[in-house]
Amino acid sequence: MKEKLTSMEQAALSQIASAPDLAAIESLRVGYLGKKGQLTAVLKQLGGLEPEVRKEVGALANQIRQTIAEALDRRREALEAELLTARLLAERVDVSAPGRPMPLGGKHPITRVLDELKEIFLGMGFSIADGPEVESDYYNFEALNMPKNHPSRDTQDTFYISENVVLRSQTSPVQIRTMEKQRPPIRIIAPGKVYRSDEVDATHSPVFHQVEGLVVDRNITMSDLKGTLDTFARRLYGEDTVTRFRPHHFQFTEPSAEMDMMCFNCHGEGCRMCKGEGWIELLGGGMVHPKVLSICGIDPNEYSGFAFGMGLDRIAMRKYQIDDLRLLFENDLRFLSQF
Ligand code: DAH
Repeated sequence: MKEKLTSMEQAALSQIASAPDLAAIESLRVGYLGKKGQLTAVLKQLGGLEPEVRKEVGALANQIRQTIAEALDRRREALEAELLTARLLAERVDVSAPGRPMPLGGKHPITRVLDELKEIFLGMGFSIADGPEVESDYYNFEALNMPKNHPSRDTQDTFYISENVVLRSQTSPVQIRTMEKQRPPIRIIAPGKVYRSDEVDATHSPVFHQVEGLVVDRNITMSDLKGTLDTFARRLYGEDTVTRFRPHHFQFTEPSAEMDMMCFNCHGEGCRMCKGEGWIELLGGGMVHPKVLSICGIDPNEYSGFAFGMGLDRIAMRKYQIDDLRLLFENDLRFLSQF
């Protein structure tokens, strides 16, 4: 019996020594020391032995049990250490490796010109106003003296959401919203997106940007409009910029005008840039129509004002010599990263 035990011990120790993984260790433990294990089976037989022999064999069996248990523990610890080392190696981070450069974004040309424009007008005491892009027919047209079915609406191919809700076709409704909730003196610009049902080409897009301006106070005259807009043009395009005002018609201003600047390329001679005109159209404006003031609860006998509106995309295109409007909306990095 003793021999059987010692050879069991030898076998167990050599199997433990070569156990490849934790699962093997566990099955060896069950196989020898578990309830139905080999060593346990021997211990169970002790009862049938002579007391003398039982004592001796029992002591040996217990000692072997302890040896095997310790060998199992040691082998498990060794395997766990190996596993940890392998994992640490596999997950190693080289903190000295050079970093991957993170490409930095830049401001879109539209945003850049808008920032510049804001700077110019904020410097003249204007503040920034804002209005919704989904607008009611009332604010987009009606309150601006453009009644339903009036031919002046024809120039603004409008997206109708329902009979009385539109995507704003101009930033002018912000004039109305501002005058409704603010008393004069008013001095605001309102930049934003506007929408018109235009076919996309090099100079048209169904969504583009405008900047609206509005000044209302006592004794505001056409010369305030001219002075303000002329100053604006010189700040934006340079001190030697020459402007002119041409009569025009808008429903919500009376009188109305358009402002041109002398072509910076040919200085009035006429060239490809200005299509032979010598002048380039910059914006529309005029004195706020008394009807519009009244609609907003501002007494036209006490107050007067001027308003203007301009296309931001065209200003950006001229400034950066971009010859196709679509480039501004395509988000091609080869284009955008030039700014
Ligand atoms: N809303 C006009 C347009 O989109 C531009 C405009 C002209 C705005 C005259 C004004 C203005 O405020 O006074 O064509």
